[in-house]
Amino acid sequence: MKLWGGRFTKETNELVHNFNASIGFDQKFYHQDIRGSIAHVTMLAKQGILTEAERDTIISGLTGIEADITNGALVIDGSQEDIHSFVEANLIARVGDVGKKLHTGRSRNDQVALDMKLYTRDEIDAVDELLHTLLKELHTLMKENVTTYMPGFTHLQKAQPVTLAHHVGAYFEMFKRDRSRLADTKTRLNFCPLGAGALAGTTYPLDREYTASLLEFSGATQNSMDSVSDRDYLIEFLSALSTIMMHLSRFCEEIILWNSNEYRFIDLDDAYSTGSSIMPQKKNPDIAELVRGKTGRVYGALISLLTTMKGLPLAYNKDMQEDKELTFDAIDTVKGCISLFTGMISTMRINKTNMESSAKNGFTNATDAADYLVNHGVPFRDAHGIVGQLVLFCEQRGIALDDMTLLDYKSISPVFEADIYDAIRMETCVNKRNTLGAPGPEVMKEVIARNEAYLNQ
Ligand code: ARG
Repeated sequence: MKLWGGRFTKETNELVHNFNASIGFDQKFYHQDIRGSIAHVTMLAKQGILTEAERDTIISGLTGIEADITNGALVIDGSQEDIHSFVEANLIARVGDVGKKLHTGRSRNDQVALDMKLYTRDEIDAVDELLHTLLKELHTLMKENVTTYMPGFTHLQKAQPVTLAHHVGAYFEMFKRDRSRLADTKTRLNFCPLGAGALAGTTYPLDREYTASLLEFSGATQNSMDSVSDRDYLIEFLSALSTIMMHLSRFCEEIILWNSNEYRFIDLDDAYSTGSSIMPQKKNPDIAELVRGKTGRVYGALISLLTTMKGLPLAYNKDMQEDKELTFDAIDTVKGCISLFTGMISTMRINKTNMESSAKNGFTNATDAADYLVNHGVPFRDAHGIVGQLVLFCEQRGIALDDMTLLDYKSISPVFEADIYDAIRMETCVNKRNTLGAPGPEVMKEVIARNEAYLNQ
């Protein structure tokens, strides 16, 4: 029996029922649906719309349904079109006619708006927690690698020496911003739509602010048409999830490069790598590749929902039911990716020697050689040209700047003295970069301490 069967003279066509139904996926938020109903009847009783006895009967029926779904005694089947109808039909079967009063002053339009907000709010917390764990892992990596020298790149060409702590610190900032984006989304979504009815409120004297406070919202929404047709918060959430994936994907791309035969900066753990069915020597970074690959799927959810919403007249339209599967899929994808990524980086081995020799062999200290000349009175443009000659000299011989003899240095510029070697050592190059945000160890330790305070707040 349909909730709305009254004005119909025919049964719904079976294909129509299946096409229209959302119970296959909206059962995911039965907890939130029941939580919302309990708050609703609590408010109805406070307002004298239900008696206290009616309220208690309905609440105990709802609590029983929730427990039975959770323990498997009550199986959600496809007979009802959505989770709201399923819970209500079961309530009436359990507690009799009083159950029919649950839906007083409510529509499935404001009900689904509420359920999805409650669900999203819970999932924002879950994603935030996973990001926090990831950040703790990055923090450990940073603490352990303040003097792990490596090349910093621009255009994927070796540029200037940095440290692994500094490189990882860039991602620390990105995931920190991701958490704050999630928090913003939560702040903006945190207004309760219940009481908006189908679109124009209700004639019952509901206390919407009271319902909102029972459900830990900051307040009630201000316009009933907007309340049932707003999906902005999902678009913001999917956008924040897409940005998280973009960050993970960039990091994965680097992990894949670093783990390649050419770089050998890191070795992924066997438990986080896979083999080839034909090439016995292979250890592939499949997890990193999959995280990178799944990014497109989360972007897809965002674009899909934006497109669904763009032509919808006010207020509720069934198109909006399409918000669910793609959001659920995006949430599962992002949660899985953050967890696996965290496991992957916490078990990888870092080849410090390879990182450092790569920095040396790529002339990442060339800027510092030019700075040396500038400090000895050579104008920067001339210094740039001289160091260009040094690089050419080294390239022709397959050596690093550190490997040149002083005689060779002097043949290119007499300004060079024996202290040039110290001036271009990786350690010196990095140590001197001590402005806030730079890789120098002193300032890096300061940033690490700030990060520590952030993680503990
Ligand atoms: N399953 C619907 C959704 O997800 C619930 C709201 C149904 N309301 C309606 N008037 N058909 O959007």
